[in-house]
Amino acid sequence: MKIIETVAELRAWSREARRSEKATGKIVGLVPTMGALHEGHLSLVRAAKTDCQAVVVSIFVNPTQFGPNEDFSKYPRTFDADCALLATEGVDAVFAPQPQEIYQPAAATFVEVEGLSERLDGASRPGHFRGVATVVSKLFIAAEPDRAYFGQKDGAQVAVLRRMTADLLLPVELVVSPIVRESDGLAMSSRNRYLSPEERTQALVLSRSLETMQKAITAGERDSEALIATARASLATEPEVRIDYIAAVDWGTLLPVEKVVPGNLFAIAAWVGSTRLIDNFIVG
Ligand code: PAF
Repeated sequence: MKIIETVAELRAWSREARRSEKATGKIVGLVPTMGALHEGHLSLVRAAKTDCQAVVVSIFVNPTQFGPNEDFSKYPRTFDADCALLATEGVDAVFAPQPQEIYQPAAATFVEVEGLSERLDGASRPGHFRGVATVVSKLFIAAEPDRAYFGQKDGAQVAVLRRMTADLLLPVELVVSPIVRESDGLAMSSRNRYLSPEERTQALVLSRSLETMQKAITAGERDSEALIATARASLATEPEVRIDYIAAVDWGTLLPVEKVVPGNLFAIAAWVGSTRLIDNFIVG
């Protein structure tokens, strides 16, 4: 597995993959990550390996998507363990740049997806989606992938990146993989490792409240206010967990819907201790 640190080397690697004798169809797959890999990331890697002839995983804790009081400095950095996992999965290359490779000291260009960037996580994390859209567009420009793989867990991020890719005419197909959960239902996240054993138990209320909503939908409820009230009641069973938002939205625009229809996104964000967790489901 090749470790790449510069954009020039990444672009050369991608173009070489395209030139190879075996190159037909979907050739280069990119899995953007911030490291601290878990089974959720590995599910994206496996999807990329199935679809593409050459797979690169980026590991970059992107400073511009963290707010001033957020966890950038304490975000888990587990590069050697991540590389060992990726080698086992048969990944071809890891792109691990230093921050100055991605953001030149005089950098003044950012990608802003208007409207969507202020909704859901964007409302409580101002600037977050600007940082995400900026880094992902840079990764697309540098790696020139045919396909890029993202997790449904970051449901609002998916909407922002779909809009950005379409608006900037980027020739990249976005592939979204389902949420991977622990056996007790907790959605996998690099931030789960911040949780104390007690908080880990409290955090289960997120997936439980989503299940309650799903059951209500299956029973015929379509009114989003009623469904959100169901989720609030369920979340209230863990009084230590503080709700950031519960929303039923159109997955394209992230705007609230009154009556839910298949394809809508039901998303929750909540604080468990000092850890902010998110979870969601797509109405089936
Ligand atoms: O989802 C993430 O881990 C990050 O937001 C991403 C897409 C790698 C950009 O830094």
